[in-house]
Amino acid sequence: MGFIPIDDPDTFRAASRGRWEDGAAGWTNAREAFQRAAQPVSDWLIAAIDPQPGQTVIELAAGPGDTGFQAAERLRPGGKLLSTDGALAMVEAAKTRAAELGLEDVVEAKPMEVEWVDAGTASVDAVLCRWGYMLVPDPETALRETRRVLKPGGRIAFAVWAPAAENPWMTGGRLVELGFAETTPPNTPGPFALGDPDLVRELLYAAGWTDDIAIEPLDFTFTAASPDAWWEQQLDCSLSLRGLVAELSPADHYKLRDAVDADLARFVQDDGSLAIPARALVVSATA
Ligand SMILES: C[S@@+](CC[C@H](N)C(=O)[O-])C[C@H]1O[C@@H](n2cnc3c(N)ncnc32)[C@H](O)[C@@H]1O
Repeated sequence: MGFIPIDDPDTFRAASRGRWEDGAAGWTNAREAFQRAAQPVSDWLIAAIDPQPGQTVIELAAGPGDTGFQAAERLRPGGKLLSTDGALAMVEAAKTRAAELGLEDVVEAKPMEVEWVDAGTASVDAVLCRWGYMLVPDPETALRETRRVLKPGGRIAFAVWAPAAENPWMTGGRLVELGFAETTPPNTPGPFALGDPDLVRELLYAAGWTDDIAIEPLDFTFTAASPDAWWEQQLDCSLSLRGLVAELSPADHYKLRDAVDADLARFVQDDGSLAIPARALVVSATA
């Protein structure tokens, strides 16, 4: 468990997909609370693509699909949202959510890889991706693929995470500091792999994006009923964290929890709940 080695990209892809398949239930359980917190990111991305009736939009790595579904409401009549994800369990979760929202007429949920965008050249008006591009072995190819499927003038809007130091909600970092997990080598896909705005800009240029590039930090706040509730949610959503924790001795488990609780203490509110800062990098450009 821990980071997946990237020496062989195909092995990485298969292992990563397996983890997301297994994590889909946890993500679906956490969906509502996660979306409540991350709504400002969805709002920014949707404003950046400005969806119009009749347009075709793809959401990549959509997970349970919230951001795309909010855009989908603006594509009626005649438009279409392709809500896509590499993990079949996530696609199923998105189908269920689309039905709950009464969006079946405008949403098609299907499996798709971020690095292989399965759509015709110049066939799509906009692409959304919230926290997906940093997870793939070859983000440059993914961004080039995205540009290929967009019509001239089409829009991309995506979010990645700012560096770990600006995201104290990600408690898993403590495992490394305590020697319970190895440091992730550079250039390994993962939550913070695209946290540097200069790197994101370089990748965009390399993939052919030059017009209207915007890259900015966007702050929001995760909340939870208590530090325990936050820890449980982290375990539920991160199979790698859950796997690493499962391998710890009881004594090391206590040590880790004490360290995490100490980190979280500054975010505990008067009523015992948590309010933890998070920082995304939000990015948009025109094809
Ligand atoms: C951090 S979650 C974000 C989910 C959703 N976009 C959101 O913001 O709630 C990452 C998602 O990316 C998907 N994913 C990871 N690697 C992928 C790949 N190579 N191709 C397509 N989807 C991928 C996972 O299955 C998961 O649903």
